[in-house]
Amino acid sequence: MMHDFAGADSDADPATQHRTTDVDRLDGIDESFVFDFEALDEPDDEGQRWSTWLSVEPLCRGPEPRPDWVVTSQAAVDTELGILKTGKEAEVFLVERGVPGGESVVMAAKRYKSREHTSFHRSGAYTEGWSTKRSRDARAVKAKSSFGREVASGQWANSEWTALKRFWEAGVPVPYPVQIDGTEILMEFISVDGEPAPRLAQTRPAADLLEHWFEQLRSAMGALARDGVAHGDLSPYNILAAGERLVIIDLPQAVDLAGNVQGTDFLMRDCTNVCTWFRRKGLAVDEHELFGELLAQAF
Ligand SMILES: Nc1ncnc2c1ncn2[C@@H]1O[C@H](COP(=O)(O)OP(=O)(O)OP(=O)(O)O)[C@@H](O)[C@H]1O
Ligand SMILES: [Mg+2]
Repeated sequence: MMHDFAGADSDADPATQHRTTDVDRLDGIDESFVFDFEALDEPDDEGQRWSTWLSVEPLCRGPEPRPDWVVTSQAAVDTELGILKTGKEAEVFLVERGVPGGESVVMAAKRYKSREHTSFHRSGAYTEGWSTKRSRDARAVKAKSSFGREVASGQWANSEWTALKRFWEAGVPVPYPVQIDGTEILMEFISVDGEPAPRLAQTRPAADLLEHWFEQLRSAMGALARDGVAHGDLSPYNILAAGERLVIIDLPQAVDLAGNVQGTDFLMRDCTNVCTWFRRKGLAVDEHELFGELLAQAF
């Protein structure tokens, strides 16, 4: 990526452009308008790039008001710190965005895989109602060509991005969505003392914390239901335990409760996954009770 210099044609190599200016266009130009500039190359290190914050469309940036830790400086550099987790459909990396010698923040970068066979095992029920405006895209997705894979991974990234914003704005505890750029979503890194927060499935909470956590999920699921949506793949693997606080992740399959005929089936499954885990840990909860309570808030 190249930074856009004021007035420069960003498609042109700045070095070439500079030469052209020197040789061909200097005649007749007031000297005071002629100045030297140094082309800004990519940062030296591999695994670094200029911050992509300003190169994405405004709509591809997270909702306002923005948390104050979001780094928006044009001088910021993104540094790849390493891989956090390889999943079935995406890989999650740690990326630090910072101004050399200044503010910086570590974020999680979820990158949807495009080459391998990925999202297609997902039930078609999830994508029901998706409209693909360009018919070539629709045909490619259907044909599962490699172009189709690219389109599909972009669609999954997009739908996770949309869900992250929607959940965030509904007050549901999800990582703050910083930006989307193609198949990459940058979001808040959920951590405990700088280490990645464990998944709920890996924890062994004491009784009072268990209850506290269940109440958080119950209220988060309530907020979603009132907003007319369900997570669609909620389980102890897609919930992170950041100390006392739970954070819900992995939302590309979020479903509309009214718009999708199987919406309530997905909601029931979310309730079952959650309640089964809490019950196994010793809390007397019931999925049907939770489901009924959520449905009452949804419609
Ligand atoms: N914002 C985040 N902060 C901290 N850790 C995260 C974050 N997002 C994802 N992770 C880690 O990466 C893992 C995979 O993320 P996610 O579930 O979104 O992707 P996935 O491709 O669906 O993976 P899987 O197939 O394992 O479910 C999570 O279980 C979690 O451990
Ligand atoms: Mg997951």
